[in-house]
Amino acid sequence: MKLLFVVLLCSSGCYVEKTTADATSASGAESSGPTFEMDRVAAGQKIWSTQCSSCHSDGGSMAPSWRGMWGSTREFTDGSSTRADEAYIRQSIKNPTSQVVKGYAPTMSSKNLSDSEIDSVIAFIKSLR
Ligand code: HEC
Repeated sequence: MKLLFVVLLCSSGCYVEKTTADATSASGAESSGPTFEMDRVAAGQKIWSTQCSSCHSDGGSMAPSWRGMWGSTREFTDGSSTRADEAYIRQSIKNPTSQVVKGYAPTMSSKNLSDSEIDSVIAFIKSLR
C-alpha cells in the first residue's frame, strides 16, 4: 500500500510537495493493472518515458512540455483554444492533428494506447503541476 503525501504549507507562502511515484511498482509482475492513483502515475510515467519523452520533455522544443499543462488553456494553429481536460488529452493522443498546438508542427502520430493506458498518462500529466 503506497500513500500519496500532499503537504500544504501556507504560512510563509504556499508550496505543494508530493512524493514521487515509486517507479518500480508499475514494472512488477502484477497483471491486474494499476488500481491505486500512485500506481497510475507510475504507469503513466513509464509510458511517457518509453513512448513520449523523446518529444515531450522539459525544455525540449520538439513538443510542448506537459508540466503545468493540466487545466491550462491550449491555443491552436487555427486560432481556437480549449482548456486541457481529460477529453482534450484523450483526443490529443488518439487524433493529434485534430488540434495542433500553436508554435508546433503536426509531427505527432496517432498513439494506439488503451483507455486504461490513457488514464495512466492523464494521471501522470495531472501530477506534473
Ligand atoms: C514525434 C514526436 C512526438 C511523440 C513521440 C509524441 N508526441 Fe505528443 N505532441 C507532439 C507535438 C509536436 C505536439 C504539438 C502539436 C500538436 O498538438 O499536435 C504534441 C501534442 C500532444 C498533446 C497536446 C499537448 C498540449 O500541449 O496541449 C498531448 C496530450 C500529447 N501530445 C500526448 C502524447 C503522448 C501521450 C505521447 C506518447 C504516447 C506523445 N504525445 C508522443 C509530438 C510528439
